[in-house]
Amino acid sequence: MTGLRRFGPLWRMRAFVRPYRGRMLVMLGCAALGVAASTVVPLVIMAIVDGPIRRGDRPQLVWMGVLALGLGLAEAGLIFCRRWVQQRVVLRVEARIRDDLYTHLQRLSLAFHHRWQTGQLLSRATTDLSVIRRFLGFGAIFLVVNALQCAAVVILLLILNWPLALLVTVSMAPAAWLGKRFGTGYAAGSRRVQDQQGDLATLVEESATGIRVTKAFGRGPLLQDRFGRAARTLRESSLDMVRLRAGFWALLQLIPNLTMAAVVLVGAIAVTDGRMSLGALVAFTSMLVLLQWPVIDLGWILALAEEAATAAERLYEVFDEPLTVTDRPGAVALARVRGRLAFEGVSFRYPGAGPDEPPALRGIDLVVEPGETVAIVGATGSGKSTLTALVPRLYDVSGGRITLDGHDVRDLRLSSLRSHVAVAFEEPVLFSMSVRENLTFGHPEATEEEVRAALELAQAEYVYDLPWGLDTRIGEQGLSLSGGQRQRLALARAVIARPSVLVLDDPLSALDVHTEALVEEALARVLRDTTGLLVVHRPSTVALADRVALLQDGILAAAGTHSELMATTPAYAAVLSATASEGMPAS
Ligand SMILES: Nc1ncnc2c1ncn2[C@@H]1O[C@H](COP(=O)(O)OP(=O)(O)O)[C@@H](O)[C@H]1O
Ligand SMILES: [Mg+2]
Repeated sequence: MTGLRRFGPLWRMRAFVRPYRGRMLVMLGCAALGVAASTVVPLVIMAIVDGPIRRGDRPQLVWMGVLALGLGLAEAGLIFCRRWVQQRVVLRVEARIRDDLYTHLQRLSLAFHHRWQTGQLLSRATTDLSVIRRFLGFGAIFLVVNALQCAAVVILLLILNWPLALLVTVSMAPAAWLGKRFGTGYAAGSRRVQDQQGDLATLVEESATGIRVTKAFGRGPLLQDRFGRAARTLRESSLDMVRLRAGFWALLQLIPNLTMAAVVLVGAIAVTDGRMSLGALVAFTSMLVLLQWPVIDLGWILALAEEAATAAERLYEVFDEPLTVTDRPGAVALARVRGRLAFEGVSFRYPGAGPDEPPALRGIDLVVEPGETVAIVGATGSGKSTLTALVPRLYDVSGGRITLDGHDVRDLRLSSLRSHVAVAFEEPVLFSMSVRENLTFGHPEATEEEVRAALELAQAEYVYDLPWGLDTRIGEQGLSLSGGQRQRLALARAVIARPSVLVLDDPLSALDVHTEALVEEALARVLRDTTGLLVVHRPSTVALADRVALLQDGILAAAGTHSELMATTPAYAAVLSATASEGMPAS
Protein backbone atom coordinates (compact mmCIF):
# COMPACT_ATOMS: atom_id res chain seq x y z
CA MET A 1 0.00 0.00 0.00
CA THR A 2 1.34 3.39 -0.87
CA GLY A 3 -0.08 5.00 2.24
CA LEU A 4 -1.97 8.20 1.76
CA ARG A 5 -1.47 8.28 -1.99
CA ARG A 6 -4.44 6.01 -2.60
CA PHE A 7 -6.70 8.61 -1.00
CA GLY A 8 -5.63 11.09 -3.66
CA PRO A 9 -8.71 10.65 -5.85
CA LEU A 10 -10.97 11.10 -2.83
CA TRP A 11 -9.12 14.24 -1.85
CA ARG A 12 -9.66 15.58 -5.38
CA MET A 13 -13.40 15.23 -4.77
CA ARG A 14 -13.22 18.24 -2.47
CA ALA A 15 -13.58 20.36 -5.60
CA PHE A 16 -17.23 19.31 -5.62
CA VAL A 17 -17.64 20.25 -1.94
CA ARG A 18 -15.91 23.62 -2.17
CA PRO A 19 -19.07 25.64 -2.98
CA TYR A 20 -20.51 24.48 0.35
CA ARG A 21 -17.54 25.48 2.47
CA GLY A 22 -19.65 27.70 4.75
CA ARG A 23 -22.04 24.91 5.57
CA MET A 24 -19.20 22.48 6.09
CA LEU A 25 -17.81 24.86 8.72
CA VAL A 26 -21.20 25.00 10.46
CA MET A 27 -21.20 21.21 10.40
CA LEU A 28 -17.74 21.00 11.91
CA GLY A 29 -18.68 23.58 14.54
CA CYS A 30 -21.69 21.48 15.54
CA ALA A 31 -19.51 18.38 15.62
CA ALA A 32 -16.86 20.00 17.83
CA LEU A 33 -19.45 21.38 20.28
CA GLY A 34 -21.19 17.99 20.38
CA VAL A 35 -17.92 16.27 21.21
CA ALA A 36 -17.25 18.83 23.92
CA ALA A 37 -20.70 18.29 25.44
CA SER A 38 -20.37 14.51 25.50
CA THR A 39 -16.84 14.64 26.90
CA VAL A 40 -17.81 16.96 29.76
CA VAL A 41 -20.56 14.59 30.99
CA PRO A 42 -18.12 12.13 32.68
CA LEU A 43 -16.49 15.10 34.44
CA VAL A 44 -19.87 16.17 35.80
CA ILE A 45 -20.44 12.58 36.93
CA MET A 46 -17.09 12.66 38.69
CA ALA A 47 -18.06 15.87 40.45
CA ILE A 48 -21.40 14.31 41.46
CA VAL A 49 -19.81 11.15 42.87
CA ASP A 50 -17.00 12.93 44.72
CA GLY A 51 -19.23 15.85 45.85
CA PRO A 52 -22.97 15.60 46.61
CA ILE A 53 -23.13 11.78 46.68
CA ARG A 54 -20.27 11.41 49.14
CA ARG A 55 -21.53 14.27 51.26
CA GLY A 56 -25.23 13.27 50.88
CA ASP A 57 -26.02 16.81 49.63
CA ARG A 58 -29.44 16.25 48.00
CA PRO A 59 -30.18 19.81 46.59
CA GLN A 60 -26.79 20.02 44.91
CA LEU A 61 -27.26 16.48 43.53
CA VAL A 62 -30.48 17.57 41.80
CA TRP A 63 -28.82 20.71 40.49
CA MET A 64 -25.87 18.82 39.00
CA GLY A 65 -28.13 16.08 37.64
CA VAL A 66 -30.01 18.78 35.72
CA LEU A 67 -26.67 20.02 34.38
CA ALA A 68 -25.73 16.52 33.11
CA LEU A 69 -29.18 16.18 31.53
CA GLY A 70 -28.81 19.61 29.89
CA LEU A 71 -25.47 18.60 28.41
CA GLY A 72 -27.03 15.41 27.01
CA LEU A 73 -29.87 17.41 25.44
CA ALA A 74 -27.43 19.93 23.97
CA GLU A 75 -25.45 17.11 22.40
CA ALA A 76 -28.61 15.63 20.84
CA GLY A 77 -29.58 19.04 19.47
CA LEU A 78 -26.14 19.56 17.95
CA ILE A 79 -26.21 16.13 16.30
CA PHE A 80 -29.58 16.98 14.80
CA CYS A 81 -28.32 20.30 13.43
CA ARG A 82 -25.23 18.67 11.97
CA ARG A 83 -27.24 15.98 10.19
CA TRP A 84 -29.73 18.50 8.90
CA VAL A 85 -27.07 20.61 7.22
CA GLN A 86 -25.07 17.59 6.16
CA GLN A 87 -27.78 15.68 4.31
CA ARG A 88 -28.68 18.66 2.17
CA VAL A 89 -25.10 19.40 1.29
CA VAL A 90 -24.38 15.77 0.51
CA LEU A 91 -27.38 15.40 -1.79
CA ARG A 92 -26.38 18.54 -3.67
CA VAL A 93 -22.80 17.41 -4.01
CA GLU A 94 -23.99 14.07 -5.35
CA ALA A 95 -26.25 15.80 -7.88
CA ARG A 96 -23.33 17.96 -9.02
CA ILE A 97 -21.02 14.99 -9.51
CA ARG A 98 -23.73 13.15 -11.41
CA ASP A 99 -24.43 16.15 -13.66
CA ASP A 100 -20.76 16.66 -14.39
CA LEU A 101 -20.29 12.98 -15.14
CA TYR A 102 -23.24 12.94 -17.53
CA THR A 103 -22.10 16.09 -19.30
CA HIS A 104 -18.62 14.69 -19.67
CA LEU A 105 -19.95 11.39 -21.00
CA GLN A 106 -21.95 13.28 -23.61
CA ARG A 107 -18.89 15.18 -24.77
CA LEU A 108 -16.51 12.23 -24.89
CA SER A 109 -15.78 10.90 -28.34
CA LEU A 110 -17.33 7.84 -29.89
CA ALA A 111 -13.97 6.09 -29.55
CA PHE A 112 -14.29 6.31 -25.76
CA HIS A 113 -17.80 4.87 -25.82
CA HIS A 114 -16.68 2.00 -28.03
CA ARG A 115 -13.85 1.23 -25.66
CA TRP A 116 -15.96 1.30 -22.50
CA GLN A 117 -18.71 -1.15 -21.71
CA THR A 118 -22.02 0.51 -20.98
CA GLY A 119 -22.35 -1.43 -17.73
CA GLN A 120 -19.04 -0.07 -16.46
CA LEU A 121 -20.29 3.45 -17.07
CA LEU A 122 -23.64 2.64 -15.47
CA SER A 123 -22.01 1.27 -12.34
CA ARG A 124 -19.90 4.40 -12.04
CA ALA A 125 -22.91 6.65 -12.35
CA THR A 126 -24.84 4.64 -9.76
CA THR A 127 -22.84 2.39 -7.38
CA ASP A 128 -19.62 4.40 -7.22
CA LEU A 129 -21.52 7.59 -6.76
CA SER A 130 -23.55 6.24 -3.88
CA VAL A 131 -20.38 4.93 -2.22
CA ILE A 132 -18.95 8.42 -2.38
CA ARG A 133 -22.16 9.89 -1.06
CA ARG A 134 -22.08 7.45 1.84
CA PHE A 135 -18.57 8.52 2.66
CA LEU A 136 -19.26 12.23 2.36
CA GLY A 137 -22.51 11.96 4.27
CA PHE A 138 -21.19 9.69 6.98
CA GLY A 139 -17.56 8.65 6.91
CA ALA A 140 -15.94 12.02 6.34
CA ILE A 141 -17.85 13.64 9.20
CA PHE A 142 -17.28 10.78 11.60
CA LEU A 143 -13.63 10.71 10.72
CA VAL A 144 -13.41 14.27 12.06
CA VAL A 145 -15.84 13.73 14.94
CA ASN A 146 -14.08 10.57 16.07
CA ALA A 147 -10.64 12.10 15.80
CA LEU A 148 -11.79 15.05 17.91
CA GLN A 149 -13.48 12.73 20.38
CA CYS A 150 -10.40 10.52 20.73
CA ALA A 151 -8.08 13.49 21.16
CA ALA A 152 -10.33 15.14 23.77
CA VAL A 153 -10.84 11.93 25.74
CA VAL A 154 -7.16 10.94 25.70
CA ILE A 155 -6.13 14.37 26.98
CA LEU A 156 -8.69 14.21 29.79
CA LEU A 157 -7.63 10.67 30.69
CA LEU A 158 -4.02 11.82 30.91
CA ILE A 159 -5.04 14.63 33.27
CA LEU A 160 -7.16 12.30 35.43
CA ASN A 161 -4.59 9.55 35.86
CA TRP A 162 -1.70 9.38 33.47
CA PRO A 163 -0.45 5.81 34.17
CA LEU A 164 -3.94 4.41 33.56
CA ALA A 165 -4.28 6.65 30.50
CA LEU A 166 -1.06 5.22 29.09
CA LEU A 167 -2.39 1.70 29.63
CA VAL A 168 -5.53 2.63 27.69
CA THR A 169 -3.63 4.31 24.85
CA VAL A 170 -1.28 1.34 24.45
CA SER A 171 -4.21 -1.10 24.36
CA MET A 172 -5.76 0.95 21.56
CA ALA A 173 -2.76 0.36 19.30
CA PRO A 174 -3.78 -3.21 18.31
CA ALA A 175 -7.33 -1.96 17.70
CA ALA A 176 -6.00 0.70 15.35
CA TRP A 177 -3.77 -1.86 13.62
CA LEU A 178 -6.70 -4.26 13.21
CA GLY A 179 -8.76 -1.41 11.82
CA LYS A 180 -6.12 -0.74 9.19
CA ARG A 181 -5.86 -4.43 8.25
CA PHE A 182 -9.61 -4.54 7.97
CA GLY A 183 -9.73 -1.43 5.85
CA THR A 184 -7.12 -2.76 3.42
CA GLY A 185 -8.84 -6.12 2.94
CA TYR A 186 -12.15 -4.37 2.65
CA ALA A 187 -10.94 -2.02 -0.07
CA ALA A 188 -9.55 -4.83 -2.22
CA GLY A 189 -12.80 -6.76 -1.79
CA SER A 190 -14.99 -3.80 -2.55
CA ARG A 191 -13.10 -3.00 -5.74
CA ARG A 192 -13.71 -6.58 -6.82
CA VAL A 193 -17.40 -6.36 -5.94
CA GLN A 194 -17.77 -3.04 -7.76
CA ASP A 195 -16.12 -4.39 -10.92
CA GLN A 196 -18.27 -7.50 -10.85
CA GLN A 197 -21.37 -5.37 -10.41
CA GLY A 198 -20.31 -3.50 -13.54
CA ASP A 199 -19.90 -6.79 -15.42
CA LEU A 200 -23.34 -7.91 -14.30
CA ALA A 201 -24.88 -4.61 -15.36
CA THR A 202 -23.27 -5.02 -18.78
CA LEU A 203 -24.78 -8.49 -19.14
CA VAL A 204 -28.25 -7.24 -18.24
CA GLU A 205 -27.89 -4.30 -20.58
CA GLU A 206 -26.72 -6.51 -23.46
CA SER A 207 -29.46 -9.05 -23.03
CA ALA A 208 -32.08 -6.30 -22.94
CA THR A 209 -30.90 -4.62 -26.13
CA GLY A 210 -30.18 -7.93 -27.86
CA ILE A 211 -33.39 -9.61 -26.80
CA ARG A 212 -34.61 -10.14 -30.36
CA VAL A 213 -31.45 -11.87 -31.48
CA THR A 214 -31.38 -13.98 -28.33
CA LYS A 215 -34.93 -15.15 -28.82
CA ALA A 216 -34.51 -15.73 -32.54
CA PHE A 217 -31.51 -17.98 -31.96
CA GLY A 218 -33.04 -19.59 -28.89
CA ARG A 219 -29.91 -18.78 -26.89
CA GLY A 220 -31.76 -17.65 -23.75
CA PRO A 221 -30.40 -20.56 -21.67
CA LEU A 222 -26.84 -19.78 -22.75
CA LEU A 223 -27.15 -16.19 -21.61
CA GLN A 224 -28.85 -17.33 -18.43
CA ASP A 225 -25.82 -19.53 -17.73
CA ARG A 226 -23.46 -16.66 -18.36
CA PHE A 227 -25.50 -14.39 -16.13
CA GLY A 228 -25.78 -17.07 -13.43
CA ARG A 229 -22.03 -17.53 -13.38
CA ALA A 230 -21.39 -13.80 -13.08
CA ALA A 231 -24.01 -13.52 -10.33
CA ARG A 232 -22.42 -16.42 -8.42
CA THR A 233 -18.98 -14.83 -8.65
CA LEU A 234 -20.43 -11.61 -7.30
CA ARG A 235 -22.13 -13.49 -4.45
CA GLU A 236 -18.86 -15.24 -3.55
CA SER A 237 -17.02 -11.94 -3.44
CA SER A 238 -19.78 -10.36 -1.36
CA LEU A 239 -19.69 -13.33 1.04
CA ASP A 240 -15.93 -12.93 1.38
CA MET A 241 -16.58 -9.37 2.48
CA VAL A 242 -19.15 -10.53 5.02
CA ARG A 243 -16.68 -13.07 6.45
CA LEU A 244 -13.96 -10.48 6.65
CA ARG A 245 -16.26 -8.07 8.42
CA ALA A 246 -17.52 -10.69 10.88
CA GLY A 247 -13.99 -11.83 11.80
CA PHE A 248 -12.61 -8.36 12.38
CA TRP A 249 -15.71 -7.19 14.15
CA ALA A 250 -15.34 -9.83 16.87
CA LEU A 251 -11.66 -8.98 17.40
CA LEU A 252 -12.38 -5.27 17.43
CA GLN A 253 -14.99 -5.73 20.18
CA LEU A 254 -12.70 -7.89 22.27
CA ILE A 255 -9.91 -5.35 22.73
CA PRO A 256 -11.95 -2.57 24.40
CA ASN A 257 -13.59 -5.13 26.70
CA LEU A 258 -10.19 -6.41 27.84
CA THR A 259 -9.02 -2.83 28.33
CA MET A 260 -12.08 -2.07 30.43
CA ALA A 261 -11.40 -5.09 32.65
CA ALA A 262 -7.78 -4.01 33.17
CA VAL A 263 -8.79 -0.40 33.95
CA VAL A 264 -11.42 -1.48 36.51
CA LEU A 265 -8.90 -3.81 38.18
CA VAL A 266 -6.00 -1.36 38.32
CA GLY A 267 -8.32 1.57 39.08
CA ALA A 268 -10.02 -0.25 41.97
CA ILE A 269 -6.61 -0.90 43.54
CA ALA A 270 -5.70 2.77 43.12
CA VAL A 271 -8.99 3.85 44.75
CA THR A 272 -8.55 1.51 47.77
CA ASP A 273 -4.97 2.78 48.11
CA GLY A 274 -6.38 6.31 48.08
CA ARG A 275 -4.37 7.35 45.03
CA MET A 276 -7.54 8.06 43.05
CA SER A 277 -11.03 9.22 44.00
CA LEU A 278 -14.04 6.99 43.32
CA GLY A 279 -15.54 9.72 41.16
CA ALA A 280 -12.38 9.79 39.05
CA LEU A 281 -12.59 6.04 38.46
CA VAL A 282 -16.26 6.30 37.47
CA ALA A 283 -15.38 9.18 35.11
CA PHE A 284 -12.45 7.19 33.76
CA THR A 285 -14.57 4.14 32.92
CA SER A 286 -17.35 6.20 31.32
CA MET A 287 -14.75 8.01 29.22
CA LEU A 288 -13.40 4.66 28.17
CA VAL A 289 -16.86 3.92 26.80
CA LEU A 290 -16.70 7.26 24.99
CA LEU A 291 -13.37 6.20 23.49
CA GLN A 292 -14.36 2.63 22.64
CA TRP A 293 -16.78 3.33 19.82
CA PRO A 294 -14.78 5.96 18.00
CA VAL A 295 -11.81 3.60 17.94
CA ILE A 296 -13.86 0.63 16.74
CA ASP A 297 -15.57 2.80 14.16
CA LEU A 298 -12.25 4.04 12.91
CA GLY A 299 -11.57 0.74 11.14
CA TRP A 300 -14.94 0.84 9.53
CA ILE A 301 -14.62 4.47 8.51
CA LEU A 302 -11.23 3.67 7.10
CA ALA A 303 -12.91 0.96 5.04
CA LEU A 304 -15.54 3.44 3.88
CA ALA A 305 -12.78 5.85 2.97
CA GLU A 306 -10.93 3.13 1.04
CA GLU A 307 -14.10 2.18 -0.75
CA ALA A 308 -14.87 5.81 -1.53
CA ALA A 309 -11.29 6.35 -2.69
CA THR A 310 -11.69 3.40 -5.06
CA ALA A 311 -14.99 4.80 -6.29
CA ALA A 312 -13.45 8.24 -6.75
CA GLU A 313 -10.57 6.67 -8.67
CA ARG A 314 -13.07 4.96 -10.96
CA LEU A 315 -14.99 8.19 -11.49
CA TYR A 316 -11.80 10.05 -12.31
CA GLU A 317 -10.96 7.38 -14.88
CA VAL A 318 -13.90 8.86 -16.77
CA PHE A 319 -13.42 12.50 -15.75
CA ASP A 320 -9.75 12.41 -16.74
CA GLU A 321 -10.49 10.97 -20.16
CA PRO A 322 -9.48 13.82 -22.47
CA LEU A 323 -12.08 15.21 -24.80
CA THR A 324 -10.59 14.37 -28.19
CA VAL A 325 -13.29 15.61 -30.51
CA THR A 326 -13.92 19.09 -29.23
CA ASP A 327 -13.96 22.75 -30.28
CA ARG A 328 -10.50 24.06 -31.00
CA PRO A 329 -9.64 27.46 -29.56
CA GLY A 330 -10.73 30.01 -32.12
CA ALA A 331 -13.12 27.61 -33.85
CA VAL A 332 -15.57 29.49 -36.05
CA ALA A 333 -19.26 29.12 -36.75
CA LEU A 334 -20.38 29.31 -40.37
CA ALA A 335 -23.65 31.12 -40.89
CA ARG A 336 -24.32 29.97 -44.45
CA VAL A 337 -22.73 27.02 -46.21
CA ARG A 338 -22.57 26.29 -49.92
CA GLY A 339 -21.82 22.67 -49.23
CA ARG A 340 -18.53 21.85 -50.92
CA LEU A 341 -17.28 18.78 -49.14
CA ALA A 342 -13.69 17.69 -49.79
CA PHE A 343 -11.67 14.77 -48.49
CA GLU A 344 -7.97 15.57 -48.90
CA GLY A 345 -5.63 12.63 -48.40
CA VAL A 346 -7.80 11.37 -45.55
CA SER A 347 -6.63 8.37 -43.58
CA PHE A 348 -8.16 6.95 -40.46
CA ARG A 349 -7.20 4.30 -37.96
CA TYR A 350 -9.60 3.30 -35.16
CA PRO A 351 -8.10 4.19 -31.78
CA GLY A 352 -8.40 0.63 -30.49
CA ALA A 353 -6.97 -1.04 -33.61
CA GLY A 354 -3.83 -3.18 -33.30
CA PRO A 355 -0.53 -1.86 -34.71
CA ASP A 356 -0.39 -4.38 -37.57
CA GLU A 357 -4.01 -3.90 -38.62
CA PRO A 358 -4.31 -1.82 -41.78
CA PRO A 359 -5.97 1.58 -41.26
CA ALA A 360 -9.72 1.67 -41.95
CA LEU A 361 -9.16 4.40 -44.57
CA ARG A 362 -6.07 5.42 -46.53
CA GLY A 363 -5.34 8.36 -48.83
CA ILE A 364 -8.94 9.22 -49.67
CA ASP A 365 -9.21 12.15 -52.10
CA LEU A 366 -12.76 12.99 -53.01
CA VAL A 367 -14.61 16.23 -53.69
CA VAL A 368 -18.37 16.58 -53.57
CA GLU A 369 -19.36 19.85 -55.21
CA PRO A 370 -22.25 21.91 -53.79
CA GLY A 371 -25.53 20.24 -54.72
CA GLU A 372 -23.80 17.17 -56.05
CA THR A 373 -24.59 13.68 -54.78
CA VAL A 374 -21.91 11.03 -54.51
CA ALA A 375 -22.75 7.43 -53.76
CA ILE A 376 -20.27 5.31 -51.82
CA VAL A 377 -20.20 1.71 -52.90
CA GLY A 378 -18.05 -1.07 -51.47
CA ALA A 379 -18.04 -4.50 -49.94
CA THR A 380 -18.78 -5.01 -46.25
CA GLY A 381 -15.88 -3.74 -44.16
CA SER A 382 -14.45 -1.58 -46.94
CA GLY A 383 -14.80 1.56 -44.81
CA LYS A 384 -18.05 3.12 -46.00
CA SER A 385 -19.52 3.75 -42.54
CA THR A 386 -16.17 5.00 -41.31
CA LEU A 387 -16.01 7.54 -44.12
CA THR A 388 -19.47 8.90 -43.32
CA ALA A 389 -18.69 9.11 -39.58
CA LEU A 390 -15.72 11.39 -40.25
CA VAL A 391 -17.84 14.16 -41.81
CA PRO A 392 -19.79 15.22 -38.68
CA ARG A 393 -16.61 14.52 -36.64
CA LEU A 394 -17.86 11.51 -34.76
CA TYR A 395 -14.17 10.75 -35.12
CA ASP A 396 -11.33 13.00 -36.22
CA VAL A 397 -9.21 11.95 -39.18
CA SER A 398 -5.81 10.43 -38.40
CA GLY A 399 -4.21 12.02 -41.45
CA GLY A 400 -5.16 14.50 -44.16
CA ARG A 401 -8.23 16.67 -43.67
CA ILE A 402 -11.88 17.09 -44.51
CA THR A 403 -13.05 20.53 -45.52
CA LEU A 404 -16.45 22.14 -45.79
CA ASP A 405 -16.41 25.13 -48.13
CA GLY A 406 -12.64 25.13 -47.73
CA HIS A 407 -12.68 25.17 -43.90
CA ASP A 408 -11.09 22.23 -42.14
CA VAL A 409 -14.02 20.73 -40.22
CA ARG A 410 -11.81 20.72 -37.12
CA ASP A 411 -11.68 24.53 -37.31
CA LEU A 412 -15.45 24.81 -37.16
CA ARG A 413 -17.50 24.84 -34.01
CA LEU A 414 -18.98 21.40 -33.51
CA SER A 415 -22.44 22.89 -33.08
CA SER A 416 -22.08 24.81 -36.34
CA LEU A 417 -20.69 21.82 -38.27
CA ARG A 418 -23.43 19.57 -37.04
CA SER A 419 -26.17 22.05 -37.88
CA HIS A 420 -25.00 22.14 -41.52
CA VAL A 421 -24.32 18.43 -41.82
CA ALA A 422 -27.17 16.01 -41.12
CA VAL A 423 -26.60 12.31 -40.74
CA ALA A 424 -28.72 9.16 -40.76
CA PHE A 425 -27.13 5.89 -39.83
CA GLU A 426 -27.78 2.36 -40.95
CA GLU A 427 -29.00 1.44 -37.46
CA PRO A 428 -31.64 4.06 -36.72
CA VAL A 429 -31.61 4.72 -32.98
CA LEU A 430 -34.79 6.29 -31.70
CA PHE A 431 -35.15 7.45 -28.11
CA SER A 432 -37.87 6.66 -25.60
CA MET A 433 -39.73 9.85 -26.35
CA SER A 434 -42.66 10.94 -28.48
CA VAL A 435 -42.41 10.78 -32.26
CA ARG A 436 -42.25 14.57 -32.36
CA GLU A 437 -39.40 14.74 -29.86
CA ASN A 438 -37.51 12.13 -31.85
CA LEU A 439 -38.09 14.03 -35.07
CA THR A 440 -36.98 17.38 -33.74
CA PHE A 441 -34.14 15.88 -31.68
CA GLY A 442 -31.49 17.96 -33.42
CA HIS A 443 -33.72 20.98 -34.00
CA PRO A 444 -36.22 21.44 -31.17
CA GLU A 445 -37.27 24.75 -32.73
CA ALA A 446 -38.61 23.13 -35.93
CA THR A 447 -42.07 24.36 -36.93
CA GLU A 448 -45.12 22.20 -37.58
CA GLU A 449 -44.67 22.96 -41.28
CA GLU A 450 -41.06 21.73 -41.29
CA VAL A 451 -42.10 18.59 -39.44
CA ARG A 452 -44.78 17.87 -41.99
CA ALA A 453 -42.44 18.49 -44.92
CA ALA A 454 -39.75 16.22 -43.46
CA LEU A 455 -42.25 13.45 -42.83
CA GLU A 456 -43.56 13.73 -46.37
CA LEU A 457 -40.06 13.67 -47.75
CA ALA A 458 -39.13 10.54 -45.84
CA GLN A 459 -42.45 8.88 -46.67
CA ALA A 460 -43.02 8.63 -42.92
CA GLU A 461 -46.53 10.05 -42.79
CA TYR A 462 -47.65 6.81 -41.21
CA VAL A 463 -46.85 8.49 -37.87
CA TYR A 464 -50.02 10.57 -38.19
CA ASP A 465 -51.96 7.30 -38.00
CA LEU A 466 -50.31 6.16 -34.77
CA PRO A 467 -52.70 6.09 -31.78
CA TRP A 468 -51.66 9.54 -30.51
CA GLY A 469 -50.21 10.83 -33.75
CA LEU A 470 -46.97 12.74 -33.28
CA ASP A 471 -47.34 12.52 -29.51
CA THR A 472 -47.15 8.73 -29.50
CA ARG A 473 -44.32 7.58 -27.32
CA ILE A 474 -42.16 5.11 -29.12
CA GLY A 475 -40.56 2.41 -27.04
CA GLU A 476 -36.93 1.85 -26.25
CA GLN A 477 -35.13 2.23 -29.58
CA GLY A 478 -38.54 2.36 -31.25
CA LEU A 479 -39.01 -1.38 -30.91
CA SER A 480 -42.70 -1.10 -31.52
CA LEU A 481 -42.04 0.25 -35.03
CA SER A 482 -40.88 -1.89 -37.91
CA GLY A 483 -37.32 -1.54 -39.20
CA GLY A 484 -38.51 0.31 -42.30
CA GLN A 485 -40.68 2.64 -40.24
CA ARG A 486 -37.75 3.45 -37.98
CA GLN A 487 -35.49 4.14 -40.94
CA ARG A 488 -37.97 6.52 -42.46
CA LEU A 489 -38.35 8.35 -39.17
CA ALA A 490 -34.56 8.64 -38.86
CA LEU A 491 -34.44 9.98 -42.40
CA ALA A 492 -37.10 12.58 -41.59
CA ARG A 493 -35.06 13.55 -38.53
CA ALA A 494 -32.01 14.07 -40.75
CA VAL A 495 -33.71 16.27 -43.33
CA ILE A 496 -35.90 18.31 -41.01
CA ALA A 497 -33.70 21.41 -40.93
CA ARG A 498 -32.83 21.29 -44.61
CA PRO A 499 -29.10 20.72 -44.04
CA SER A 500 -26.58 21.81 -46.66
CA VAL A 501 -24.84 18.46 -46.50
CA LEU A 502 -26.71 15.21 -46.08
CA VAL A 503 -24.75 12.13 -45.09
CA LEU A 504 -26.73 8.93 -45.25
CA ASP A 505 -25.18 5.63 -44.26
CA ASP A 506 -27.31 3.13 -46.10
CA PRO A 507 -30.61 4.44 -44.77
CA LEU A 508 -32.74 2.45 -47.18
CA SER A 509 -31.60 -1.04 -46.26
CA ALA A 510 -34.67 -2.04 -44.26
CA LEU A 511 -37.28 -0.65 -46.64
CA ASP A 512 -39.57 -2.86 -48.67
CA VAL A 513 -39.44 -2.46 -52.41
CA HIS A 514 -42.57 -0.30 -52.59
CA THR A 515 -41.55 2.17 -49.85
CA GLU A 516 -38.02 2.20 -51.16
CA ALA A 517 -39.20 3.50 -54.50
CA LEU A 518 -41.24 6.22 -52.77
CA VAL A 519 -38.37 7.24 -50.46
CA GLU A 520 -35.93 7.28 -53.37
CA GLU A 521 -38.22 9.57 -55.28
CA ALA A 522 -38.49 11.89 -52.27
CA LEU A 523 -34.74 11.73 -51.67
CA ALA A 524 -34.09 12.71 -55.25
CA ARG A 525 -36.05 15.90 -54.57
CA VAL A 526 -34.05 16.75 -51.41
CA LEU A 527 -30.75 15.95 -53.02
CA ARG A 528 -31.35 18.27 -55.95
CA ASP A 529 -30.13 21.26 -53.95
CA THR A 530 -28.24 19.51 -51.15
CA THR A 531 -24.74 18.09 -51.14
CA GLY A 532 -25.18 14.40 -50.61
CA LEU A 533 -22.88 11.60 -49.54
CA LEU A 534 -24.74 8.34 -49.44
CA VAL A 535 -23.73 4.80 -48.84
CA VAL A 536 -25.82 2.65 -51.14
CA HIS A 537 -26.02 -0.96 -52.14
CA ARG A 538 -28.67 -1.32 -54.75
CA PRO A 539 -28.33 -0.31 -58.38
CA SER A 540 -31.68 1.50 -58.12
CA THR A 541 -30.38 3.76 -55.34
CA VAL A 542 -27.16 4.44 -57.19
CA ALA A 543 -29.30 6.22 -59.74
CA LEU A 544 -29.86 8.96 -57.14
CA ALA A 545 -26.21 9.93 -57.35
CA ASP A 546 -24.40 12.07 -59.90
CA ARG A 547 -21.20 10.17 -59.29
CA VAL A 548 -20.11 6.99 -57.58
CA ALA A 549 -17.02 6.27 -55.47
CA LEU A 550 -15.87 2.69 -55.05
CA LEU A 551 -14.17 1.82 -51.76
CA GLN A 552 -11.99 -1.27 -51.49
CA ASP A 553 -10.26 -2.13 -48.22
CA GLY A 554 -10.16 1.49 -47.14
CA ILE A 555 -8.86 2.81 -50.46
CA LEU A 556 -10.75 4.84 -53.02
CA ALA A 557 -10.43 2.41 -55.91
CA ALA A 558 -12.36 4.35 -58.52
CA ALA A 559 -14.69 7.31 -58.93
CA GLY A 560 -16.89 8.38 -61.80
CA THR A 561 -20.41 8.12 -63.12
CA HIS A 562 -22.27 4.86 -62.80
CA SER A 563 -21.95 4.08 -66.50
CA GLU A 564 -18.25 4.97 -66.56
CA LEU A 565 -17.52 2.62 -63.70
CA MET A 566 -19.69 -0.11 -65.17
CA ALA A 567 -17.63 0.12 -68.33
CA THR A 568 -14.16 0.46 -66.81
CA THR A 569 -14.17 -1.18 -63.39
CA PRO A 570 -15.18 -4.83 -63.22
CA ALA A 571 -14.90 -4.73 -59.39
CA TYR A 572 -17.67 -2.12 -59.29
CA ALA A 573 -20.13 -4.24 -61.21
CA ALA A 574 -19.17 -7.20 -59.04
CA VAL A 575 -19.84 -5.35 -55.77
CA LEU A 576 -23.16 -4.02 -57.01
CA SER A 577 -24.44 -7.35 -58.22
CA ALA A 578 -23.19 -9.12 -55.08
CA THR A 579 -24.93 -6.71 -52.72
CA ALA A 580 -28.03 -6.53 -54.87
CA SER A 581 -28.48 -10.30 -54.71
CA GLU A 582 -28.07 -10.35 -50.90
CA GLY A 583 -31.58 -8.95 -50.64
CA MET A 584 -30.89 -7.10 -47.43
CA PRO A 585 -27.26 -6.01 -47.15
CA ALA A 586 -25.56 -6.64 -43.84
CA SER A 587 -23.76 -3.35 -43.44
N1 LIG B 1 -15.48 0.95 -33.74
C1 LIG B 1 -14.54 0.30 -34.46
N2 LIG B 1 -13.36 -0.01 -33.89
C2 LIG B 1 -12.39 -0.65 -34.59
N3 LIG B 1 -12.52 -1.02 -35.87
C3 LIG B 1 -13.68 -0.74 -36.52
C4 LIG B 1 -14.75 -0.08 -35.83
N4 LIG B 1 -15.79 0.05 -36.71
C5 LIG B 1 -15.36 -0.50 -37.87
N5 LIG B 1 -14.11 -0.98 -37.77
C6 LIG B 1 -13.30 -1.62 -38.83
O1 LIG B 1 -13.08 -0.68 -39.86
C7 LIG B 1 -13.24 -1.26 -41.14
C8 LIG B 1 -14.31 -0.55 -41.92
O2 LIG B 1 -15.56 -0.71 -41.29
P1 LIG B 1 -16.88 0.01 -41.80
O3 LIG B 1 -16.56 1.42 -42.09
O4 LIG B 1 -17.96 -0.24 -40.81
O5 LIG B 1 -17.19 -0.77 -43.14
P2 LIG B 1 -18.51 -0.80 -44.02
O6 LIG B 1 -19.46 0.23 -43.50
O7 LIG B 1 -18.02 -0.50 -45.38
O8 LIG B 1 -19.04 -2.18 -43.94
C9 LIG B 1 -13.58 -2.73 -40.88
O9 LIG B 1 -12.40 -3.46 -41.01
C10 LIG B 1 -14.05 -2.75 -39.47
O10 LIG B 1 -13.73 -3.97 -38.86
MG1 LIG C 1 -21.36 0.11 -42.79
